[in-house]
Amino acid sequence: MSAQSRRLRFGVLGLGIAGGIMAPYLAQHPRTCVAGAADRHAGLRQRFEQDFGVPTDDDAAALLRRPEIDAVYIATPHQFHREHALMAAELGKHVIVEKPMALTLADCDAMIEAAQRHGVTLIVGHTNSFDPAIGRLHQLAVSGEFGRLAMLLMWNYTDFLYRPRRPEELDTRQGGGILFNQVPHQIDIARLLAGAPLRSVRAMTATLDPRRPTEGCCTALLDFSNGVAASLTYSGYDHFDSDELHGWISSIGRPKQPRHGATRRSLLALPDGAHEQRQRSERYGYGGDAYKLGPRTHQSHFGTLIATFERADVRTTPAGLAIYHDDGVSEISLPPEVDGRVAVLDEFCAAVLDGRPAVHDGEFGRGTVEASLALLDSVRQRREVFLR
Ligand SMILES: NC(=O)c1ccc[n+]([C@@H]2O[C@H](COP(=O)([O-])OP(=O)(O)OC[C@H]3O[C@@H](n4cnc5c(N)ncnc54)[C@H](O)[C@@H]3O)[C@@H](O)[C@H]2O)c1
Repeated sequence: MSAQSRRLRFGVLGLGIAGGIMAPYLAQHPRTCVAGAADRHAGLRQRFEQDFGVPTDDDAAALLRRPEIDAVYIATPHQFHREHALMAAELGKHVIVEKPMALTLADCDAMIEAAQRHGVTLIVGHTNSFDPAIGRLHQLAVSGEFGRLAMLLMWNYTDFLYRPRRPEELDTRQGGGILFNQVPHQIDIARLLAGAPLRSVRAMTATLDPRRPTEGCCTALLDFSNGVAASLTYSGYDHFDSDELHGWISSIGRPKQPRHGATRRSLLALPDGAHEQRQRSERYGYGGDAYKLGPRTHQSHFGTLIATFERADVRTTPAGLAIYHDDGVSEISLPPEVDGRVAVLDEFCAAVLDGRPAVHDGEFGRGTVEASLALLDSVRQRREVFLR
C-alpha cells in the first residue's frame, strides 16, 4: 500500500473533553482512522463503541498492546502524559500527546528520548498554534511580505475556571490552573510566529476566587532573542468573554450566544464536588451534551491576536485574517472545514507516512513547557526570568 493511500490506525487514550473532540477528526481525516480507545470510565467507553464499532479497554496498556493500533492520541490528564508516551514508544506506537507535553522538563526529555530510541514520531498537539489563521500568519512572518515582525498582542477572556474540573486542575502544584492548561496555547502561538528562542519572560497572575484556588488570570511579556515582543493576557473568570470581539464566534468556530457568568452560576448551583466530577465526565466527556457540535462555520481561534509588522498590523478574524497595511485593509478568508485539529493530523501523517519533519515535535513542545515554567517562576519571584 502506498504512503498516500495508507491510513494510520489510531487508539484514543482518554475519552474526556480532548479525546472526545479529536475522535471524529481521526475518523474523518483521509489518512487516519479510529481503531480503538481506552478510558477508565465505562459509560464513555460504551458511547464510543456504539459510535465507532471498535473495541475499547479500561486500561492504557491493554490499548497500546493491541497490534491493530499504529498510533495513539494521548488525551489523559497532564500528569499521565510521560507514563503513557513512554509506554506507547516502547510498544512501537507513534504518538500525538495533548498539551502540555508534560509537567517537568525531565519528563519532556524522557519522552523525546524514548521516541528517538524506539524510532517513533512524537508530536504535541492540539494547541491553537495549528489553527490555519496562525499558519497563514506564520507564512507572512517568514516571507517578510510586510517587513519584520515586531510585536504580538494576544487576549483571551473565557469561562475556563468554572467549567467542571477535576480536583488536581485547581491545584497549581499538580499542574492545575491556566498556566499549564490555557496560557500554553498563547505561548505556542507566540513561539511559532516569533521563530526565535525565547530570551526572557515577566509574568503576573492572580487567584481571584478562593473557591477555585489556582491562577485564573495572567498577563505576561515574552522577549524573544530576535527582538519580537509578545504580550499575553488570559482570564478564565467568566465575566467578560472576548468572543464578543470575535463576532460571537466561539473558539471552535461555531456561532454562540452571549451568556456572561452562566458557567459560574451553573457550577455554583451544583450541590457538591461529586456532582461536579459526574458532570466533568458525563456532560463534557465523549458523547456528552456539552460537546455535541454543529457544523463549523468559521475559523477556530484562541481569542484576539494582533501582529505588528513594519508595514502592517494583522488581526485574526472569524473568517481568517484582516490586514491593515499602508494602503488600507484587505482580508484573507480561509475555508471553515479546515481547522487546527485537521492540521495536527496533516502534520503528524506527513511526518509518519512521508518522513517530513514536524514543526510541533517533542523539542517544540518542550520549549512551550519550559516557557510555562519560566512564567510560573517569574510570578513567584516577581521579576523577569531569563531562559537558558
Ligand atoms: N487541545 C485542546 O483544545 C484541549 C482541550 C481539552 C483538554 N486538553 C488536554 O487534554 C488532556 C486531557 O484533558 P481533558 O480535559 O480531556 O480531561 P478529562 O478529564 O475530560 O479526560 C481525561 C480522560 O482520561 C481518562 N483517564 C485518566 N487516566 C487514565 C488511564 N490511566 N487510562 C485510561 N484512561 C484514563 C479519564 O477517565 C477521563 O475520561 C489534558 O492534558 C488537557 O490539557 C486539550
